[in-house]
Amino acid sequence: MDGCGGRLQGGRRHLLLVGLLAALLSIAGCGGDDDTTASRTTFVAGGSGTSERGTWAYPNGDAGNTRKADGPINSSTVSRLGVAWTVPITAAGTFGGYASTPIVVDDTVYTQDLASNVQAIDLESGEVKWETRYDSPSVGPNGLAVGDGRVYGGTGDSAFALDQATGRELWLLRLTRNEREGVDMAPGYMDGIVYISTVPGNARGFYRGDGVGILHALDGETGRRVWSFYTVPTTLWDARHVDINSGGGLWHPPAFDEEGKIYVDVANPAPWPGTEEFPWGQSRPGPNLFTNSLVKLDASSGEIEWYQQVLPHDLYDWDLHLPPVLTEAGGRRMVLSSGKGGYVYAFDADNGDRLWSRSVGVHNGHDRDNELALAGRYEMLETPVTVYPGVLGGVETQMAVDDGVVFAPVVDLPTRFESQERTRLDIAAGRGQMVALDVETGEQKWVHRFATPPYGAATVVGSLVFTTTFDGMLWALDTATGEIVWQERLPAGTNATIAIAGDTLLTAASFPQGPGQKAQVIAYRIGATGRAETGGGEAQPTGGEEERREEGGGQTTEGGGGGGGAADLAAGRAIFEQQCAGCHTLADAGASGTVGPDLDTLRPDAATVDEKVTNGGGGMPAFGGRLSAEEIRSVADYVAAVAGQGGGGGGGGGGTP
Ligand code: HEC
Repeated sequence: MDGCGGRLQGGRRHLLLVGLLAALLSIAGCGGDDDTTASRTTFVAGGSGTSERGTWAYPNGDAGNTRKADGPINSSTVSRLGVAWTVPITAAGTFGGYASTPIVVDDTVYTQDLASNVQAIDLESGEVKWETRYDSPSVGPNGLAVGDGRVYGGTGDSAFALDQATGRELWLLRLTRNEREGVDMAPGYMDGIVYISTVPGNARGFYRGDGVGILHALDGETGRRVWSFYTVPTTLWDARHVDINSGGGLWHPPAFDEEGKIYVDVANPAPWPGTEEFPWGQSRPGPNLFTNSLVKLDASSGEIEWYQQVLPHDLYDWDLHLPPVLTEAGGRRMVLSSGKGGYVYAFDADNGDRLWSRSVGVHNGHDRDNELALAGRYEMLETPVTVYPGVLGGVETQMAVDDGVVFAPVVDLPTRFESQERTRLDIAAGRGQMVALDVETGEQKWVHRFATPPYGAATVVGSLVFTTTFDGMLWALDTATGEIVWQERLPAGTNATIAIAGDTLLTAASFPQGPGQKAQVIAYRIGATGRAETGGGEAQPTGGEEERREEGGGQTTEGGGGGGGAADLAAGRAIFEQQCAGCHTLADAGASGTVGPDLDTLRPDAATVDEKVTNGGGGMPAFGGRLSAEEIRSVADYVAAVAGQGGGGGGGGGGTP
């Protein structure tokens, strides 16, 4: 795999258009820089839930998204964490089965899997109290908010409220405008209003054109719309190219301050870098507001207080997508933002002034390619090109803040842009870091390096910062030095985050990557002595089944073999669209994912697909135990039959026009 910078285009030098960037960054219209009360606290802290064991009342711990917990877990007790209980995860999605941080209130854990199904689990015993199923796939992250007796969340295209005591659905409201949009976030909830956004994609594909991210404020009791904030215009910056362009939306809940304001980070524009006809984003001219912007809004009206765009005319999917974090340092209220571009930014929460920004993780010289495109200097840009951070890199998951230090989990994983429309990503080659920065100055305090990417966010308690890494490790680092204080092997690979409620730490082994690994939610508790099962013993296809597969799978194309062939292929296609399309390209299914190899090029036989889907590995999740042997066989037969056949195939399926 390419080392850092190993693939820089020979001899090319970038003109750094410093003035242009500065000009674009200073267009923030400011409002309400009223009284400055140095002593007031920044956000509504903690949760209201009465609990014996402790609470984690918001998706990111508190209303300011600090992911800082209080309680007895610290460097002297952490080694006594043992497994209190586990609950199996049944969903199997593009990015594993699970990508939410649970909510803990009233001694109950509220959690959602990547099929949008919601469970209420007894914190003490792990017993499932109720479950409400939606079976609506999401690429994640997703998750819940809890307040006023209700549990709020999203499916692949809607927002809902459930009765907190029973799980009964109270209302459901579709949010998407078309089949190319979706919902991928834990909502925010404050003072009776639910905040939830759409994004320009869903489990069947992203950035297919005409996708607009819209933040909706909904009445928590009725689901009625209070206001909507269009994070990008419905004309998508050029009304002639609405069918190609898309962008914006939120991937995480807002931060709430105590003055009735919310802070949101808005995601990237697309296509990226562009299309063959309109390279380098030429179908979407200009800075593409409000993509890659931090926006402060009035919570009750949706009016803009100020905004700051950190990356105009983004070319590389470098979302500013993480939840903004509210904190204080040097006598001012601050808001911190970050995302896949691999920078951490600090702003004055009152007037929006940028205080500092700091590059984290590996960058290889493309951070200002957007300025070249904006200036029309296309001769300075070319494909193929390998870019750090990649589309699953940078600060990919949530930061945490405690005591004047911000902790950013960074993924070092490049993307190879083969052309304007074809990208390649070697997910197994990813590595990562936890970086600690001084909140007041942005200075780096320490870096801890990991052999695989930390997709597990940062969570702080008792002078420890926790994360998980993709290889299935749970880590506790010393907040002062970055040294490892404790580590634990989870029973499967993971991209799950962590919630801490009192003496209990909740996480998941969410991304099985080898034979026998099973996805599960796990509660670790001080003094508990259990162990999580590593699985194994799940029935593998027998010899007889393999024979049947060969006979039924064949190399026949649709209609060829008669019999059940067409029906089986339809079933296989349905599974592919739900489970595989987000990562693989396969024209017949209208799939254009780039995380795994292009299956039209690879043209694998059914046995290869079957083995890979069952056992995973190399960055691909294992589906054995999540899909039945029969389902795996049908998707394998389908892929073997259609790969490289150039799509077209009648069959009404496929989403991309
Ligand atoms: C999270 C992303 C992801 C999902 C979801 C995913 N794959 Fe993969 N897949 C990968 C990656 C990454 C590789 C490359 C693995 C490697 O290099 O060993 C891969 C490899 C493969 C291969 C190549 C195997 C080989 O050895 O040549 C096949 C076939 C395949 N996947 C089929 C599927 C099917 C079918 C599904 C749905 C059931 C699926 N994948 C779901 C990421 C994914």
